Amino acid sequence: MMATYQHIPVMLERCIDLLAPAFDEQGAVLIDGTLGLGGHAEAFLERFDNLHVLGLDRDADALKYAQERLARFSDRVRFAHVRFDDMAIAMEKYFPGQRPAAILLDLGVSSMQLDNPERGFSYLSDATLDMRMNRTDDVTAKDIVNSWSASDLASLFRRYGDEPLAKRYADAIVTARQAVPVESADQLVAILDRATPRSKATRGHVAKRVFQALRIEVNRELESIEAVLPGALDLLAPGGRILVMSYQSAEDRLVKRAIDQRTRSTSPLDLPVEMDQDRATFTWVAKREGAGEEEILANPRSQSVRLRAAMKRSE
Ligand SMILES: C[S@@+](CC[C@H](N)C(=O)[O-])C[C@H]1O[C@@H](n2cnc3c(N)ncnc32)[C@H](O)[C@@H]1O
Repeated sequence: MMATYQHIPVMLERCIDLLAPAFDEQGAVLIDGTLGLGGHAEAFLERFDNLHVLGLDRDADALKYAQERLARFSDRVRFAHVRFDDMAIAMEKYFPGQRPAAILLDLGVSSMQLDNPERGFSYLSDATLDMRMNRTDDVTAKDIVNSWSASDLASLFRRYGDEPLAKRYADAIVTARQAVPVESADQLVAILDRATPRSKATRGHVAKRVFQALRIEVNRELESIEAVLPGALDLLAPGGRILVMSYQSAEDRLVKRAIDQRTRSTSPLDLPVEMDQDRATFTWVAKREGAGEEEILANPRSQSVRLRAAMKRSE
């Protein structure tokens, strides 16, 4: 029997409204680059009878779950266990000669990854510090915590976690691991707890930012976003739409920068006429939107979402 997970797809109605205008053609393809538990994909398949979905995920467990959930749409959905920056290869394999009408990226971790203690994503468990989305990758969070220098750990916690106590936490980890390696989530939480001054202990869970930073590094999430965007924007069919939801400021900056470049004309200012190749090829259709109060109450994960979407005007 299929396990069930508490998962509410983030900003679902808004995603549907923003991508729907791209689906006027019979048999249009939506690439869901972060299929996860298949929540968004299921809603799109239910809503649009002629839509085909190519679902990608680097996590084999997520794909297996989504495959079962979407079994009733088996004639309209294809799955690939790849990183989303390989979407062009997967598209050519499953929909040869076609271009996607829409691309959806809902970044970060799924509730299955967070809720399964074995995966080591959650700071509320005694699991081994793993955090790999793809369990065949080499580096785990445990490797980083036990081998990086204090200054590298501190800059990681600052960069990807916006952690104000980064240096203090990094020093505490390095001191603690001299006595015994830091193997489990609860061991790391205890170290961070002890290193947190009383006055700062009210900022939510002490480990939240450190765990986020480790997860981003283990999965090289920012590199993945940087790698996927130019190719995804090229791949999209003219008239197509891309929608990205990120949950962290560094991710959102990368998304904004990559799309912004295509929404501006590159024509030199002193040219009287704009040449075709200099025209902006994309138009923003949603800029840094967030979830509403009601949704945040029902689904706390939506609190930090930043949604951006753009339409491809021409090649
Ligand atoms: C937030 S969840 C997606 C949830 C999904 N929208 C739903 O409604 O069920 C993000 C998923 O993206 C996957 N993921 C993250 N980075 C990826 C990458 N670079 N390539 C492929 N999948 C990735 C994760 O494994 C995770 O399953």
